[in-house]
Amino acid sequence: MTKPIKRIAVNTGGGDAPGLNAVIQSVMIAAHNRGWDCFGIRDGFNGILFPERYSEGGVARLTRERVRGIGHLGGTILGTTNKGNPLHFPITMPDGTVREVDRSDEILTYFATHEIDALVSIGGDGSLTIANALHQKGLRVVGVPKTIDNDLDKTFTTFGFDTAVGFATECLDRLHTTAESHQRVMVVEVMGRYAGWIALHAGIAGNAHAILIPEIGFDLEKVTAKIREREAAGSQYSIVLVAEGAQAKDGHREVLAPAEVGHAERLGGIGESIGHALARSTGKETRVVVLGHLLRGGSPTSFDRLAALRFGAAAVRALDAGHSGVMVSLGSDGVSHVGLEEVAGHIRNVPMGCDTLQTGRDLGICFGD
Ligand code: F6P
Repeated sequence: MTKPIKRIAVNTGGGDAPGLNAVIQSVMIAAHNRGWDCFGIRDGFNGILFPERYSEGGVARLTRERVRGIGHLGGTILGTTNKGNPLHFPITMPDGTVREVDRSDEILTYFATHEIDALVSIGGDGSLTIANALHQKGLRVVGVPKTIDNDLDKTFTTFGFDTAVGFATECLDRLHTTAESHQRVMVVEVMGRYAGWIALHAGIAGNAHAILIPEIGFDLEKVTAKIREREAAGSQYSIVLVAEGAQAKDGHREVLAPAEVGHAERLGGIGESIGHALARSTGKETRVVVLGHLLRGGSPTSFDRLAALRFGAAAVRALDAGHSGVMVSLGSDGVSHVGLEEVAGHIRNVPMGCDTLQTGRDLGICFGD
């Protein structure tokens, strides 16, 4: 028989996504309505690992007042970080070299000494891998899937994705008119490190003429041919949408900064390099727009807000029902949960047979292959 829950904590890790605050609000209220106290950990786990950084405490009790009116706000009131995984925490040695240490026991000790019974951890693949490790060490943990990239396995969607796709689509609508007026090629780069969901969905909804995603190695001659084909048919402008992680058919991708201890690699620059290449190969004036972190900001759409509220409440219900080591997930029958070990370390790529991709092909969109 597991000990009844009286106090839980919630944290947000990795890149922010619209809807995080709605999850926090939902977790707090659902816990409060069960008579539980709810605490917020600042900046991933930094509130526990570096309490001296926070004058108001690295872990603070969340009240009804604190979460009132935050559901429609982007970002996260708790702060977040995508540096310093507690399982592989980078420390600089006296000789200047960087070594990884496992600081996860400090987190377990914190929960035990402060009598916090469980954790709701909201994050992407990295954060859910940490959550799974903490669960295996004995902490009661439920994960909530988050990423604008929509690349987490075992959930139909993550909150933040719809907001990002909506904004990118609106940007494409705006770029069509200026591109057409100037008869230019407009190359638009969006986020999507390992999966092309944002580019695929926004590109089809926003009528891009070519969409380049990490899952399909591209050949710029094919994109050039598409632009020429459009010219021959009387359309003197083209929109090329590229995911930051798109790679040429020879495997080349643009990396801004390689992965280092405690930090994933940073991508970016593929839009610029494709823009230069297409200007040369087509002889057309070309402009490049990088949407980047704009896709992570703003208010969550009603779809994302509802998904976030459903995920937060479902996480609390899962803890109440005695579950641990699970992630709440959206399937065809609604929100349920799956084992964290089934999710951690698994990226959900765009399947080559999916109907959205087929739709793009049927509409004559070039995917660079
Ligand atoms: O949230 C995932 C993501 O949006 C990726 O597509 C992108 O590569 C990454 O975040 C960038 O994160 P940051 O600039 O915060 O390191």
